[in-house]
Amino acid sequence: METKLTNLVLLAEAEIKKCKTINELLDIKAKYLGKKSEFNVLMQDMKNLPNDQKPLVGKLINEAKSKISALLDLQKEIIDATKINEMLKAQTIDISLPGKSINLGHKHILTKTVEEIEDIFIGLGYEVKEGPEVESDLYNFEMLNLPKDHPAREMQDSFYITEETLLRTHTSPVQVRSLLANADHKPLKIICPGVVYRKDDDDQTHSHQFMQIEVLVVDEKATLADLKGTLLLLAKKLFGENREIRLRPSYFPFTEPSVEVDVSCFKCNGVGCSMCKNTGWIEILGAGMVNNNVLKAAGYDPEVYQGFALGMGIERIAMLKYGIDDIRLLYTNDLRFNSQF
Ligand code: PHE
Repeated sequence: METKLTNLVLLAEAEIKKCKTINELLDIKAKYLGKKSEFNVLMQDMKNLPNDQKPLVGKLINEAKSKISALLDLQKEIIDATKINEMLKAQTIDISLPGKSINLGHKHILTKTVEEIEDIFIGLGYEVKEGPEVESDLYNFEMLNLPKDHPAREMQDSFYITEETLLRTHTSPVQVRSLLANADHKPLKIICPGVVYRKDDDDQTHSHQFMQIEVLVVDEKATLADLKGTLLLLAKKLFGENREIRLRPSYFPFTEPSVEVDVSCFKCNGVGCSMCKNTGWIEILGAGMVNNNVLKAAGYDPEVYQGFALGMGIERIAMLKYGIDDIRLLYTNDLRFNSQF
């Protein structure tokens, strides 16, 4: 009996080890441990054995069955592990394959120009201030010495939302807001970048929406000479060390005296070319000493405080600097254009 069982186990072991799939293994399990297995036949035969042999034979049969069970478990583990290894092998990533290259974007030329100008003034101790694009008539015009019936309002055709609210036509209202916020009249040095709107027909040099940077200094001693020094430094930083500036008398309601600022042509060095229309000079911005009426409206005593302001169009600066001949290129987001800068 014992030999018979040992042989049965050996037979089962050989078959189990050959199994490559779980299904094959299940068949073998049924064959050796199922209802119709040889073990079951042996168990049934036990009733014919003498009583004193029954426990021993029963024990032997059970031991043989457990051995087969253990062999089945072991083979199942082997089959599972092989399957996982094969899967891992199939899914291996080839790290030598070149990756997909990603096109990195970059800042728009207008953003770069704004940041360049901001950096110049931050280096001089100025603070950057921003204000709303939907502005009150009061801050956009009236407190800047432009009362309702003032003819100079025509210099800035406006988009009105209500009678008292409009899309700001310049960044100068941020001056007013900053002066009002500076209640104890500490020296103020600010620059205000932002988008502004005017009812212009769009063409090569005009846009109904563009960007400005306003610069304002108010303290007890700022003079026209300080303004001139600041303008010269700005011109040199933006257009090259050899630049010179020229101030021409002009008119803005919020400054008195007012000037138009020209920079010596950076293309021909002032000799005369198509860029400067043979004058040697290129107009870049407007500026002046803050009008007493503006100071008064913001609660400043013009006998004590004085200051200067300048305002420039970012697009114009960028167009001059980078030789762009159509302002619309700055807004249409054509990648062939944008990626050149
Ligand atoms: N706000 C003026 C404009 O948009 C520019 C400017 C600002 C002129 C400050 C003088 C001083 O036309």
